[in-house]
Amino acid sequence: MNTPARGSLLGIEHLQQDEALRLLKLARRMNPQKPRSLLRNRKIILLFYEPSTRTRSSFEIAAKSLGAITTLVQSSGSSIEKGESLLDTGYTLRAVGADAIVIRHPSAGAPHLMAKYLDIPVINAGDGMHEHPSQALLDAFTILKHKKSLKGLQVAIIGDIVHSRVARSACHLLTRFGAKITLCGPPEFVPEVATTLASGLRISRHLEEAVRGADVVMLLRVQKERLAGQKISLQDYIAHYQMNAARLKLAKRDAIVMHPGPIIRGLELTSEVADSPQSVIVDEVRSGVPVRMAILARALGRAK
Ligand code: CP
Repeated sequence: MNTPARGSLLGIEHLQQDEALRLLKLARRMNPQKPRSLLRNRKIILLFYEPSTRTRSSFEIAAKSLGAITTLVQSSGSSIEKGESLLDTGYTLRAVGADAIVIRHPSAGAPHLMAKYLDIPVINAGDGMHEHPSQALLDAFTILKHKKSLKGLQVAIIGDIVHSRVARSACHLLTRFGAKITLCGPPEFVPEVATTLASGLRISRHLEEAVRGADVVMLLRVQKERLAGQKISLQDYIAHYQMNAARLKLAKRDAIVMHPGPIIRGLELTSEVADSPQSVIVDEVRSGVPVRMAILARALGRAK
């Protein structure tokens, strides 16, 4: 059992601020339109135990834009279905020549466990309700395309916070850079304990209060797959927390609307908001490629 290999990215909570800054600066220099051979012939395994569109495809495109070879292993159709353990799967992938593993898993801590036992970098592409570090970095990268600085920004994060690894990583990263975050939603989605996620977090039960004067409005999907029998009235949720054009008007005129995706139109937001000029949702997806290029280059020691 070891400390994680250099270049692993397991979460934002323990990532040094200067490391996060270095990644954001490196991402600015990455151009997916101009492929580079920084990672030529390095083998990157994309190990996905949960569904993904954005994270998986952007890690793959990022890796290939740097000349790496990628292999996708999903729980469905692999020996995971036959009962192979997480670590045995890791040892197998290492044995076939993996230089790095990008892993998404429904259990919090799965990437950390793998990183303790493997001598190659492990990158967390989302572990249960814990962290989604590459999403937080691409969100910060996207915000910085539209705002001068994160310091002092008023950020409203609205929705299913308790089940959201995106919210957890975003809170760690954005507060570290001086953003002021208000978490908004009903108690089932935003319990009082959520303020302990990071320092200086505020909770509001009223969407109008959370959005008023915000620079950034981040919406989250209701994660029905993680509700485990909890009865939530979606009609009530829509009535009180759906972002629509009238509610968005309470934010600053130049506020941006973010959502990590997938978006559910008609639930956490209306199509009018999703497609409005203030929406940077597609830009977030686009930012995923250079940010993940930077993460992979750092992982394999080519962060130049
Ligand atoms: N934001 C995000 O993780 O999206 P995917 O589940 O499609 O990867």
